[in-house]
Amino acid sequence: MGYNSPVVITVSAYKGGTGKTTTALHVAGVLGQQAPTLLVDRDRVPSALRWYRKRDEWPFRAVASSDATPELLREYRRTGHIVFDTPAGPDPEEIIAFGKHSDLVLIPTTPDALAIEALVDTVRDLRDEAVLFRVALVMVPPFPSQQGRRARAAFQKARLPVLEAEVPRAAAFHHAALQGRLVRDVRDRRAGALWSAYQEIANEITAAVGEKA
Ligand SMILES: Nc1ncnc2c1ncn2[C@@H]1O[C@H](COP(=O)(O)OP(=O)(O)OP(=O)(O)O)[C@@H](O)[C@H]1O
Ligand SMILES: [Mg+2]
Repeated sequence: MGYNSPVVITVSAYKGGTGKTTTALHVAGVLGQQAPTLLVDRDRVPSALRWYRKRDEWPFRAVASSDATPELLREYRRTGHIVFDTPAGPDPEEIIAFGKHSDLVLIPTTPDALAIEALVDTVRDLRDEAVLFRVALVMVPPFPSQQGRRARAAFQKARLPVLEAEVPRAAAFHHAALQGRLVRDVRDRRAGALWSAYQEIANEITAAVGEKA
């Protein structure tokens, strides 16, 4: 399975505010450069759609859950990629169901101790159910903070699959949301590097899906 094979990704996390919507939008942005891509906003508070509707130049299409008809999903499933953004606080059964309906569940998390403990506890269910998932560290504070490194060590100790690529904490993401843009299009000297982080994340998850197939 190569780069252009269709992938269905669900972005989910137990905690709120861990960068799900930001991650879903940017992963859809990267995948959308390769093949037609659909972002489905499954949140009752549709922040991905609010972000999306601020402008009309996007490399992907975004719809509310209610507009994601079976025909539309089939079309993208066949020819391109689908990314689901989901609300915070799913129960383990919901995540397992996401896993069964997608090729991979992507779980963004901040690198703080509480977020990690919560994740390590709850993610065991996914492993038991043989759901393919990857953890992505996001909002990682800059050096000299050791939070990112510590989080990575904690995940490795718990044998949780964490992506190598991580997304730094950066105000450019706030600006991107406010302006209705992808971070690569925000005027910021780090914009290119922040976009690259999501490119690497998309590459790693596409590769993980390919290995499974
Ligand atoms: N890498 C980052 N650096 C700094 N701020 C970020 C980063 N990623 C996201 N944010 C900001 O963190 C906040 C939460 O992000 P986001 O809305 O993507 O999380 P969420 O998990 O979708 O939240 P919710 O659970 O409410 O749906 C937003 O203000 C967003 O702009
Ligand atoms: Mg969200």
